[in-house]
Amino acid sequence: MENLRKHVKILMDLGFDYILVSEDMYEMDLKEKEKIMSELNRQIQECKKCDLYENRTQAVLGEGNLNAKVMFIGEAPGGDEDKQGRPFVGRAGKLLTKLIEKSGYKRTDFYIANICKCRPPGNRTPTPWEMEQCFPYLKKQIEVIDPKVLCLLGATAGRAFLNRNVAITKERGSLINWEGRILYLTYHPAYVLRNPNAEKVLEEDIRKSIEIAYPS
Ligand code: URA
Repeated sequence: MENLRKHVKILMDLGFDYILVSEDMYEMDLKEKEKIMSELNRQIQECKKCDLYENRTQAVLGEGNLNAKVMFIGEAPGGDEDKQGRPFVGRAGKLLTKLIEKSGYKRTDFYIANICKCRPPGNRTPTPWEMEQCFPYLKKQIEVIDPKVLCLLGATAGRAFLNRNVAITKERGSLINWEGRILYLTYHPAYVLRNPNAEKVLEEDIRKSIEIAYPS
């Protein structure tokens, strides 16, 4: 917003009487994005919209590059994430990080988040109602980061966006338009840990989702 104010002032100084500014004419600056994320973090730490708050150590907002063109979105924090307050830091997270690095990037080049911000007890799948309660937080994150590609890790993340059951083995690799962004459906890294044959496919999907966002 500060940048926008500066630009408007320059134009006014140049003699413009009025300036029409549409939302997509400027990019939010990083400081402003950080401020919104920190407010969102405050809100989720206090959130009691569903029962998941009862068992959390802390809610996990997400982390990474606030200007990323790719967001990786999982299901919900597990035990390690709940303890550390960071997404994808357990075994599945280490695999995700490894596959991102195999694409020639760093994990910190992208933004990583989950549909649900609190750990479901025993790592059960979050219910559709729990996901619905939490989705507005993720939507705000998407609006602020403004990525081109949302790489959805697993059927649960797919379901949250598409409001229907997703058969991930059939649908992985699909590109779907969602509110002007591209959804790229792929496997969850935890599924790949149980089915190591799927690792190459997840690796390729991660590489492709990055390529779509950053065409060479
Ligand atoms: N699984 C997820 O879906 N998200 C995490 O952050 C960790 C494991």
